[in-house]
This record gives sequence, structure tokens and C-alpha cells, in this order.
Amino acid sequence: MLIVRTIQEMKAACRELQRCGKTLGFVPTMGALHAGHISLVRTARRQCDAVAASIFVNPLQFAPNEDFSRYPRTFEDDCRLLEDECVELLFAPSAAEMYPAGACTMVTVEGVGDRLDGGSRPGHMRGIATVVSKLFHIVRPDNAFFGQKDAAQVAVLRQMVRDQDFDLELAVCPIVREADGLALSSRNRYLNAEERQQALVLSRSLQQVRVLLQAGENAAETLIAAAGKVFAAEPSARVDYIALVDWATLLPVDTAAPGSLFAVAAWIGKTRLIDNLVVDAR
Ligand code: PAJ
Repeated sequence: MLIVRTIQEMKAACRELQRCGKTLGFVPTMGALHAGHISLVRTARRQCDAVAASIFVNPLQFAPNEDFSRYPRTFEDDCRLLEDECVELLFAPSAAEMYPAGACTMVTVEGVGDRLDGGSRPGHMRGIATVVSKLFHIVRPDNAFFGQKDAAQVAVLRQMVRDQDFDLELAVCPIVREADGLALSSRNRYLNAEERQQALVLSRSLQQVRVLLQAGENAAETLIAAAGKVFAAEPSARVDYIALVDWATLLPVDTAAPGSLFAVAAWIGKTRLIDNLVVDAR
């Protein structure tokens, strides 16, 4: 695996692979890699001739009061995991390389970028769209791989790809969970043993919604109330949002339909966690 630190070198390495006629799959990450990230890498490996990943803890997507400085950084372990997956290229730039003094162009996805996590975390989606746009320009992948875990991010990036005519396919991979249901997240490392148990309330609430959907219930009000009841039974969790939305626009819907997104976000102690389910065709 070639580890690349500069934009110029990354562009050259990607162009070289593409000159050989290889299709290039790309998996952007912020590191602290876990099995969720690796599932994206494996999907990329299956679908593309060559795979590039990036590790960059993007300061633009963290508000000043958020966890940028303590976000887990496990670069050596991450490299080993990516080596094991035979990733060809790892782009790991510094913040100064990505945002040199004077850089002032931001990518704002209006509307959809201000909903769900974008609503709770002002500037968050703008930071994501800006860095992913830069990464897409540098790598020029044929396919880029994202997790359904960050469903609002997916909605924003799909809109950006469409609006800005990026010439790539954006693939969405299923949520990888622990055996007990907790969705894998780099932020799970923040949880102590007690919080780790409390965090199960997110997946438990979705499980309850899934049972109701399977029984034919599709009224947003009922589904949201049922999830709220599960949270109420775990008073240590502080709900940020419980929502049923159209996955493309992130606007609320009254009735669950195939493709609707049921999403939850909650604080467990000082850690904000998210989880969701997508309503399947019945
Ligand atoms: P990060 O949180 O590191 O996640 C990188 C990718 O892994 C995202 O597409 C995310 O949805 C996916 N992922 C995380 N947990 C997952 C899980 N349990 N199952 C499946 N996929 C999972 O998302 C980001 O980084 C950043 O916002 C980024 C896109 C890199 C821009 O900075």
C-alpha cells in the first residue's frame, strides 16, 4: 500500500492507475477504522480493479465545541487493516495540505444539508461536502463508497454529486453492527462500560419500529411515539431527534413508504450517537 501525504502525489498515483485502464474505487474515512469501514473497503474491492482510501480528520466538519481534538487517531492500526485488505493507495494529508492559508471556498448543499444531523450540528454538512468535493476532485474515482450509518451524509452527498455533475457512482453499504445490535462507530470508543449498555437504546428503538412496520403500521406519529417510548425507558439517554423522513430530501413524511428513512440521534453521556433503518419494499 502506498501512503500518500500530498495532493499532487495522490493525483499522480490515481491518474497512473487510471491510465492502466483500472477502475478506481474510493473509501473516504476519518480513520479509527472498524469493521464498518472495512465492509466498505471490501465492497470497493469486489466492484473495482483498484481501491483508494483516505484518512483525514476533517476540522471543517467539527464545530468549535465538538470532539475534533479528542477524535480517536489510530493511524498505525488503520494502516495494518487496510494493508490486510490489499488497498493500493492511502491518502492521509495534513490539514495544512487540504486547507492551505487563504483557502476560502465552501460547498453548501442548501436545504438537505440543514436537516437531521445538519440541523443539530450547524456547519457540519458544509464541512463534509467541502472535503468530499475536494477528495473527489483529487481521486476522480469511478465509484465511491459510503455507509448507510451516516444516512444524512449520504443524502447530502448524493445531492452534491447530482448538482455538481461529479462523474462517479455513489454506493451505499449496509450498517455493520455489534452482535448485540449497536452500530459500529469510531465514537463508540468514548463509551465506558455502563454507557456502552445504555447506547443499545438506539438500536432497540429501531428494532421496535421494525416490528411495527412488519405488522403493517406505517403512520409516522405511531412509529415515532413507539421509538420515543423505548428512549423514555432509558432516561440516561438524551434524544436529539427521532424522525421519519424522505431519504432524498430529509423532509418529514407522514407515512412510511419503501425508501423512507427512520433515523435517531441521542446523547449517551458526552457522546452523540446516531442510527437508522430504511423502510424496505413490502
Ligand atoms: P467516518 O465516520 O470515518 O466514516 C467513513 C465511512 O464509514 C462513512 O461512509 C460511514 O458512513 C461509514 N461507516 C461508519 N460506521 C459504519 C457502520 N457501522 N457500518 C457501515 N458503514 C459505516 O463519515 C465520515 O468518516 C466523514 O464524514 C467523511 C465522509 C470521511 C468526510 O470527512
